[in-house]
Amino acid sequence: MVEGVSKALWIVVATLFAVAAAVAPVACGQQAPCYFVFGDSQFDNGNNNVLNTTAKVNYLPYGIDFPEGPTGRFSNGRNIPDVIAELAGFNDSIPPFAGASPGQANIGLNYASGGGGIREETSQNLGERISLRRQINNHQTAIINAAVPRRQLRRCLYTINIGSNDYLNNYFLHPPTPARRRYNPEQFAESLIRLYNIYLKQLYLLGARKVALFGIGKIGCTPRIIASLGGGVGCAEEVNQAVELFNNKLEALVADFNDRLSSVMFTYVDLFSGNAEDFAALGITVGDRSCCTVNPGEELCAQNGPVCPDRTKYIFWDNVHTTETVNTVIAVGAFDGNITSPFSIAELVD
Ligand SMILES: *[C@@H]1O[C@H](CO)[C@@H](O)[C@H](O)[C@H]1NC(C)=O
Ligand SMILES: *[C@@H]1O[C@H](CO)[C@@H](O)[C@H](O)[C@H]1NC(C)=O
Ligand SMILES: *[C@@H]1O[C@H](CO)[C@@H](O)[C@H](O)[C@H]1NC(C)=O
Repeated sequence: MVEGVSKALWIVVATLFAVAAAVAPVACGQQAPCYFVFGDSQFDNGNNNVLNTTAKVNYLPYGIDFPEGPTGRFSNGRNIPDVIAELAGFNDSIPPFAGASPGQANIGLNYASGGGGIREETSQNLGERISLRRQINNHQTAIINAAVPRRQLRRCLYTINIGSNDYLNNYFLHPPTPARRRYNPEQFAESLIRLYNIYLKQLYLLGARKVALFGIGKIGCTPRIIASLGGGVGCAEEVNQAVELFNNKLEALVADFNDRLSSVMFTYVDLFSGNAEDFAALGITVGDRSCCTVNPGEELCAQNGPVCPDRTKYIFWDNVHTTETVNTVIAVGAFDGNITSPFSIAELVD
């Protein structure tokens, strides 16, 4: 799976895998009929390759630890959905929507797009991207074209990781965007959740019942934001505080869906509460800089630039995105329930 992962981390990951296997009644074999992935660059695995955007990573050193090399994943190796698919017993990773065969909608599709946001205008500074609204439209088209049965769609797994760009590539951009001028952080979080609620209802109407919603991590502590809004010295607390407002409302929205709709299992995945010490305990000790070479003022890896020798010690692969090692820790935590509430992903696919 991961070459050269430190022994200490392996023991921890292996233990977590063992927990996941114990929680899941069917330890081998596909535990859900299909798996659909929505989100931004953290989940994108190739949809942006065909778009006119600067948020495109189908070049080395991206994919340096991935069997097929650069694919459009924003990491050195696998991303979170890759690991979740494996834990849920899928033979292969869920392929990108772009270029997939129509029949693939029976097994699963990944609609995620680097730069994608909840708000339509988010990341327009980067070029083309697929917003959450358009990702759900793509899903509707795909399941209709493949005539995926309704009773099957209700048993599938859905994971969504969206919202970071609404802050990184909208609210906290300079000069201030219209959204920044119009809303204070509380109102902005509210505007995002109002839209998210609409899109989740659409997804529900399209058959989704088992949905894991990833909150936003401490993006104020990414090397990109430390270098800009953090003045080069530390986390931008203003950013983390704004994101926390969103996360709290998202967790409440999850509870709301579970209360109001029968037969749904929505769960919230907490990417915010973990801290550098938790990672350090796993041997992931470098949290203040990227593993790959990032040119000044940029966020993505320089093409063919040098990379750190031991990727397993780094939290950040480039100036925003995490390494395969961190993606694995997060995916295992989400699957076994360590960072989810109220359901683990293992329970969703049970
Ligand atoms: C790509 O986008 C840029 C900037 O938005 C634009 O100038 C350029 O014409 C576009 N290229 C293509 C092939 O559409
Ligand atoms: C998984 O792979 C095995 C062996 O290649 C195959 O027999 C099986 O049908 C596959 N299962 C699915 C669900 O694709
Ligand atoms: C998740 O696991 C970590 C490390 O084992 C532990 O410190 C933390 O308390 C756990 N969190 C939850 C919510 O169980």
